[in-house]
Order: sequence, then structure tokens, then C-alpha cells
Amino acid sequence: MAGCKNITVPTMVLLWVSMCLGGVHGANFDVRHYGTRADGRSDDSGAMMNAWKDACASDAGPVTTFTIPPGNYLVGSLNFQGPCKASSMNVQLQGTLVAPSDLNKVKSQGAWVIFQNIDWLTVSGGGTLDGQGAVAWSKNGCQRGGMCGSFPSNLEFSSITNGFIEDITSLNSKLFHIELINCKNVTLQQLTINAPGNSLNTDGIHIGRSTGINITGIDIKTGDDCISFGDGSQQVYVSGVTCGPGHGISVGSLGKFQGEQPVTGLTVKNCTLTNTMNGVRVKTWPASISSLASNLHFEDIKMMNVGTPILIDQQYCPYGRCQLKACSEHAILPPSIHSHTEKFEFLFQVPSRVKLSDIFFTRIQGTSSTPVTVKLACSAEVPCQNVQVSDINLRYDGNDGNSTSLCSNIKPRTSGLLFPTLCTGEVPAP
Ligand SMILES: *[C@@H]1O[C@H](CO)[C@@H](O)[C@H](O)[C@H]1NC(C)=O
Ligand SMILES: *[C@@H]1O[C@H](CO)[C@@H](O)[C@H](O)[C@H]1NC(C)=O
Ligand SMILES: *[C@@H]1O[C@H](CO)[C@@H](O)[C@H](O)[C@H]1NC(C)=O
Ligand SMILES: *[C@@H]1O[C@H](CO)[C@@H](O)[C@H](O)[C@H]1NC(C)=O
Repeated sequence: MAGCKNITVPTMVLLWVSMCLGGVHGANFDVRHYGTRADGRSDDSGAMMNAWKDACASDAGPVTTFTIPPGNYLVGSLNFQGPCKASSMNVQLQGTLVAPSDLNKVKSQGAWVIFQNIDWLTVSGGGTLDGQGAVAWSKNGCQRGGMCGSFPSNLEFSSITNGFIEDITSLNSKLFHIELINCKNVTLQQLTINAPGNSLNTDGIHIGRSTGINITGIDIKTGDDCISFGDGSQQVYVSGVTCGPGHGISVGSLGKFQGEQPVTGLTVKNCTLTNTMNGVRVKTWPASISSLASNLHFEDIKMMNVGTPILIDQQYCPYGRCQLKACSEHAILPPSIHSHTEKFEFLFQVPSRVKLSDIFFTRIQGTSSTPVTVKLACSAEVPCQNVQVSDINLRYDGNDGNSTSLCSNIKPRTSGLLFPTLCTGEVPAP
């Protein structure tokens, strides 16, 4: 066989051993056989990518297993690219992948570890991705008016169909922990996500342009949204998530970029939020492009000392003026406006054009760290439609007022027990 002439005898033995260990299912590719050091200091990315290339090309059986055994592997970046030959790839991450903490050694875009273009992928094994993010957080200029987010996320699943991700930990990511982009039918379960409450832009799980995603049993402690649903998130089911510290569970932010796809069919159920900045929220930019979010269900949510447990914010513009550029990208400014301050003030009065409809807040109870426990700030240009609020009990125990609710451009339908009474005040103009 011509194809065999480059394969050395030891490699053939190795392949034979690996395939035997893999049993009838297919080959098992263990990164140790490709020369990883697992000493936490030598860069193991090259050896790992070689192992992946062979694993992905293997047609020895219907399931190919790719194993990263216990140990600390320093890896610059990993791109586990498909499509692969086997019908299904089974990745066993047992060890810890350690990112370089030196920012000169990381890429400024995309993710540190990527799985891409794979149909039928399982990732499990109890291992950890340690993003070593502390230096990145200290350099992130978002809050000081500088650049936001020019660091890699920890782990990205891109164009994955029929995925099952279970029992791994994401630690101290430089930016987002886990991102799903362009995925279909992916389950994430029993994951641990951990970073300090003051780590910037470390969203726990971010979903975009993906359909049929099931997220259950995830413990998230981080410095930004625990879960964020970006544009094109459709048919996503989230349950059994504990969140805090963090910014809450959020749809959006939406309306920032041209060509955003609608967000539809989300259910967030049986989740507990503790000491988070917000609870469940929908956020869209003022002066935005047109888009849609509908059929959003938030139910059986427990709030413990949460700031604004229920929040629709169509005046979203974080970090004050620093994101002005983002807000203004598609806005048409009158010629009389020149200074940044004028621009900012002008833009803030241009309503969001993201249409929100069919939103259900059901059985949400607990305590808030602020007196405004429900805030429904909808757009004057496209008021919220069919927002239903039922069985809400949100206490505020501070001395400076009682639990209240503010609304604008919305007439919510209500049923069941409601504390606070809805829409007793207007959201102040921005
Ligand atoms: C979705 O993916 C899971 C594997 O995570 C699989 O068991 C299931 O059959 C898939 N569903 C469809 C409709 O293909
Ligand atoms: C989500 O996954 C959990 C655990 O695997 C399962 O029990 C549940 O039925 C799934 N839900 C949906 C809507 O697929
Ligand atoms: C609700 O979520 C908790 C985790 O916070 C989990 O232990 C429990 O089993 C879930 N209950 C149901 C009915 O899914
Ligand atoms: C807040 O209002 C509720 C219902 O009106 C009342 O029972 C409760 O005593 C009030 N709490 C405070 C701290 O005033």
C-alpha cells in the first residue's frame, strides 16, 4: 500500500495498540503518545494538535476517542477542527489546560480552545480550562473608556451539530468562558464556571445564532452575565442554573450590529441567582438597528439579594460614554451635534428599535438589593407587546423604601400574587 510507506514501525505499533484499547468502537488517541509533557511549563499545543489531526482523520470505527489524561498542559491555542471521519468524536478532557498568562502570547480575537465543524461531538471527563485571566482583566479598558474585549474567550463551540458537553470546568477566562456560535442541538450539563465577581467581561455562557440548545445543572460564578443570549438564539432551554456572583441571566444586548437575527423561543426555568447585579433581563441598545426578540419565558426563579430582579432595559448603554461609538454606529446625527457629550445626550434620547413581544415572567420570588425590584423600560418607538407577569414576590428589606416597580411604554398583563404591584411609577427619562 502506497499510503503506508511513510508510517514508521513504532507509529504502526502505537496505532495498533491505540486501536485495540479503543475496542470495537474505534481508535482512542491519547495525547501522551504524541509527546505532551503535561508539566504546566512546556507548550503542549503542537503535540495536541498532531494527536487531533490523527484522531479526526481516523476511520477505524464509528466513535473516535480523543483523550487528554490528568496533568497540567500549557497550551497557546487549540483549534479542534472538523469535519472528522468517524461518525462521532468523543473528547475526554481529564487534565487541566492552562492558558498563557502573558498577553503577548495570546491571540486578540476568537477563542483560546475551539471545537469547530463537528457533527456528533461529546466533551466530558472532569477536566478544566484555566484561562489565567487576571492580567487580562487588569488591562481591560472597558470601564475606563478604552477598548473592550480584545482577549480570547476560554472555549468556543462553533458550527457543532448534535453536541453533548458535560462535566468540565472553565476557570478564570480572559473574556467569555464558553461560547456557542452557529450550533444545533447541543446540550451543556453539569458544568462549573468560575471567575471572581470583579473580572471584566467574563460572561459564563454566551449563545449566538444557535438552535436547540439545552443547558442544565450549571454552577456559574463570574464577573459578567452568567448566561447571555445573543442574536439568533432560538429554542434554548435553560434549567437548574445557579448564578452569582455575576450580572444575571440576560437576553442581549441586542440592536448593536447590522443584520442581527431574531431571538425567539427561550425558556429559563428553576434557576437561583444570588448576590447578582441583575436578575433576569432583556437589554437592547438605544438608537439601534431594528430587530426582534419574542417568546421568552422566565419561570420558577429564586432571587437572593439581587439588584433589579426583573428588568427590561431598552436604554442599555453600559460603561457610560465609552460605548458611545457602538451606540452611534448606525445613528444619524443632526449636523448641529459635535462634541461627545452632545452626541451621547442625543443618542440616549433615540429609542431602541428592537421589538420585544410575548415575554413571560412567572413565579419569580425572593429578595432584592435595590428598592426597584421590577423595571420594565420599553422603547417609545416600538413599545413592548404582550408581556405577562404572574406570581411575583420580590422583597426589599432596606431602610430607603419598599419594593416598587417602574414601567415605560408597556402595559403588562398580570395574574396571581403580585408584590410589588406593577407599574406604580414611570421609568425616568434617560
Ligand atoms: C441531539 O443530540 C443528542 C446528542 O447530544 C442526540 O442524542 C440526539 O439524538 C440529537 N437529536 C437529534 C434530533 O438529532
Ligand atoms: C435537557 O436536558 C436534560 C438533561 O439531559 C433533560 O432531562 C431534558 O429533558 C432536556 N430538555 C429539553 C427541552 O431538551
Ligand atoms: C432545580 O435546580 C436545582 C439546582 O439549582 C436542582 O438541584 C434541582 O434538581 C432542579 N429541580 C428540578 C425540578 O429540575
Ligand atoms: C412593604 O409593603 C408591604 C406590602 O404593602 C408591607 O407588607 C411591608 O410591611 C412593607 N415593608 C416595609 C419595610 O415597609
